[in-house]
Amino acid sequence: MAREKKRAIIAGNWKMNKTPSETTALINELKPLVENADCDVIVCVPFVSISAAVEAVKGSNIKVGAQNCHWEQSGAFTGEISAQMLCETGVEYVIIGHSERRQYFGETNKTVNKRMRAALAADLNVIVCVGETLEQRESGVTEEILSEQVKIAFCGIEPSDFDKITVAYEPVWAIGTGKTATSEQANAACAHIRDCIVELYNLRLANDIRIQYGGSMNAANAQQLLDEPDINGGLIGGAALKAADFAKIVEVASAN
Ligand code: PGA
Repeated sequence: MAREKKRAIIAGNWKMNKTPSETTALINELKPLVENADCDVIVCVPFVSISAAVEAVKGSNIKVGAQNCHWEQSGAFTGEISAQMLCETGVEYVIIGHSERRQYFGETNKTVNKRMRAALAADLNVIVCVGETLEQRESGVTEEILSEQVKIAFCGIEPSDFDKITVAYEPVWAIGTGKTATSEQANAACAHIRDCIVELYNLRLANDIRIQYGGSMNAANAQQLLDEPDINGGLIGGAALKAADFAKIVEVASAN
């Protein structure tokens, strides 16, 4: 199905990189490079760098996101941060269910759902990540895995929350590996995610939701990926740590 192009959403996932002072420096470098962007520009920074980021983006078109949040408002959860706490720092976005959290920190589809519901209840915008491993792709179960991840992540999510949700399709085998999914592979997976939303909700919500691709997206391959009809943006790791590279992706997304 031919889809109309939506305003793109380009988010940097800085992962465990950049101290507060380094955050200020990178954002100051980035600001003039993306000031005329015709797409949403977000930087998702480490918790301790949020204040520096919120301060640095003031007066600019860049929004700040976090990389995780807990599902409870407060309590005995050592090392965790609640969605309410994030709101008070001035964060507007949060990444939920990144594959590194699934892989290294015991995140499951169920906890992704709990975190997503808490973030939406706190009025945060959510970037919810899904994606298959290499083993799953090679054994032909990519669609099945994506369907299950989407179905459980969206359990109990109201249609009225959809304007705050972006899905990021991130094939695990393409993250940080330099191996990008081909634009056809990426688009097919994003189209499948949209079909899951049709099944769970309806065609209108499925058409309206923005789906990002993530996994070794960079200045050189962004155009081809963003040209695909079902890809509405990017979640960018490595290339988001260099202002010029990230700005180039923003430029491509703006021109699309
Ligand atoms: P990458 O990371 O661009 O470095 O592959 C993407 C991500 O993990 O969000």
